[in-house]
Amino acid sequence: MLNEIGSEFWHVPSSEPNDFFSRCEGDIAFTMSGRTSILYILQEVESTVTTKIVYMPAYCCDSMVAPFRLKGYDIHFYDITHSFEPVIQLNLLKSAGVFFTCDYFGFPTSIPQKFIDTCRKHHIITIHDITMSLFSQVNYTNHDYLLGSFRKWIGIASGGLAIALKKPFSTQLLPPLTPYIQTRQKALNLKAEYIQSPSESLKTQVRDLFLNAEALLNGATSRYASDTVSIDCLRHYPYLELIEKRRRNYLTLLEGFSSLANINILHASMSADTCPMFFIIFTDDRDRFKQYLIENQVYPPVHWPIPENREHSENSKQIANAILSIPCDQRYGTQEMERIVALARFFFKTGENTT
Ligand SMILES: Cc1ncc(COP(=O)(O)O)c(C=O)c1O
Repeated sequence: MLNEIGSEFWHVPSSEPNDFFSRCEGDIAFTMSGRTSILYILQEVESTVTTKIVYMPAYCCDSMVAPFRLKGYDIHFYDITHSFEPVIQLNLLKSAGVFFTCDYFGFPTSIPQKFIDTCRKHHIITIHDITMSLFSQVNYTNHDYLLGSFRKWIGIASGGLAIALKKPFSTQLLPPLTPYIQTRQKALNLKAEYIQSPSESLKTQVRDLFLNAEALLNGATSRYASDTVSIDCLRHYPYLELIEKRRRNYLTLLEGFSSLANINILHASMSADTCPMFFIIFTDDRDRFKQYLIENQVYPPVHWPIPENREHSENSKQIANAILSIPCDQRYGTQEMERIVALARFFFKTGENTT
């Protein structure tokens, strides 16, 4: 059993070629990251977009908004419900040049066809973010562009994916940014070493390297390609195993958390097509529960704290204050999931949360 659960992935060598990308329709480009894919798509549509206004979800990561700011777009947000369904205002949609939608945590977001039809009629470009559903089986062919980030699922340096569904990309990518690739690759390798033989000094070095890599990525403001090592890793990754393990872990957590009061589970069932990214819960005692898990070497992220300087709706504020993403990924098995369940039971049933 692994002591630490969650946090950054590490590099794992992969062997057999897989068929993952042969199942994808459209023109595929491998970029340095998810945000790089957005930049690439925006560069591609620069001369055809009717107006530089994007209509996008209020509940999203700031790295999804940043490329639009960088490209000079006005940003209009639409709300989402507590079950992550978009609340679209037709007048705002019609005034946009880009309609941006997003799946959450492995589960597809349903976009009513009438909104896609409105986009077609008004020449509004549709971009759908599949970062969180990269391993779920969904038919996305009614969008113009898809994008994703594999960095959120496995230990690779690059991992951006951009797909043009209607016509091939005409814009060239730029060579990858070497300082970023090297720093992140070093972080991934060192993390693998740390997992084999943990030490405080290695932990600090790994954390600093990942932080440095993220700072370099934040400063990367152009359409950089992926490095070849990362593409090779994607083409060989045993993704069916990843899907199977995540689904099994999710079901173990679901069973364990279902009996707990004080917790709401976002998805209490999962279809056969779904590969979950995290097991999502809501609790009013989120911050203390998160801290308790961290003290016990379980590292659950919050997707996402909303930056102060961004417009946010009442719904997104409530979600951001109560949400917690429990790791259920392929690095772990039943024992680790049961450890998380035991910690949750102790926290919520025994007064550990009453101080
Ligand atoms: C849904 C989603 N899309 C895009 C991104 C950006 O991906 P990257 O960090 O690889 O640039 C993120 C990052 O967290 C994300 O969660």
